[in-house]
Order: sequence, then C-alpha cells, then structure tokens
Amino acid sequence: MREPTALFEAARAAMRNAYAPYSKFPVGAAILTDSGKIFAGANMENASYPEGWCAEVSAIAHMVMGGERHIKEVAVVAEKMPRITPCGGCRQRLKEFGAADTLVHLCDATGVVETAKLGDLLPKAFEFV
Ligand code: THU
Repeated sequence: MREPTALFEAARAAMRNAYAPYSKFPVGAAILTDSGKIFAGANMENASYPEGWCAEVSAIAHMVMGGERHIKEVAVVAEKMPRITPCGGCRQRLKEFGAADTLVHLCDATGVVETAKLGDLLPKAFEFV
C-alpha cells in the first residue's frame, strides 16, 4: 500500500482550521478520490451544539462540490486523541461515497496509527432501496 503521508498531512493541515471553541477538540479529515485528488475539511461547531458538524462532513462537501463522488481513502486526525475513529454518523456518510474496501486511516498528531476498511467499521450499513 502506498504510504498515505500526503493524506495525513492534508488532514492535519485542515484540523488547524477547525472551529471548535465549545469542545476544544479540533478534528481534520482528508479524502483521496479515484482521480488522485485530495479534499480536506475540519469540524465546525455552533453555540447551538447539535448544529455543528464533523470534519468528515466538511471534507465530503468539498469533494462533492469539486465534482467527485467516490472516496478511495480517507484520513482522520484529532491532536487530542491517540487514534481517532470516525463517529457512527460519519461512517454512514463516508459509506454514501465509499465502499466496503475504502481505506480509513486512523491517525494521531504524528501520522497514521492504524488503517481499517470502511466495511469493517460499518458492517451491514444502511442501504436505501
Ligand atoms: N468530531 C469529528 O469532527 N469527527 C468525528 O468523527 C468525531 C467527532 C467532532 C465533532 C465535535 O466538533 C467534536 O469532534 C467533539 O465531538
């Protein structure tokens, strides 16, 4: 497997632009698409707590607005966690544009700690009929 260094670095750079004054828990995510492009994003919080959104959501929105629809790999990083995993809702959001073999790189502040497959993180995902 190609070293996902560029993807990790994009996620970490995005994390620095997080707006997380309430949780003080900045998160960054970066998506690699089939065409080799990288789209990154960070969490954006709000005084009305449920109205904020995760880093993965920002990255997915950038990808779709950039004209891409398939996630090949994704890296997620939170400087305050030794190995962040995407929340349940974001696993489903990643699945919308990913596949069971989409690689999910779980990072700490220095790099990739573990790589999982999306299908293992979200078995029996909801599928709209
Ligand atoms: N958060 C993410 O950005 N991604 C995740 O997968 C887990 C949680 C954010 C949401 C909130 O802004 C902060 O982390 C604390 O929950």
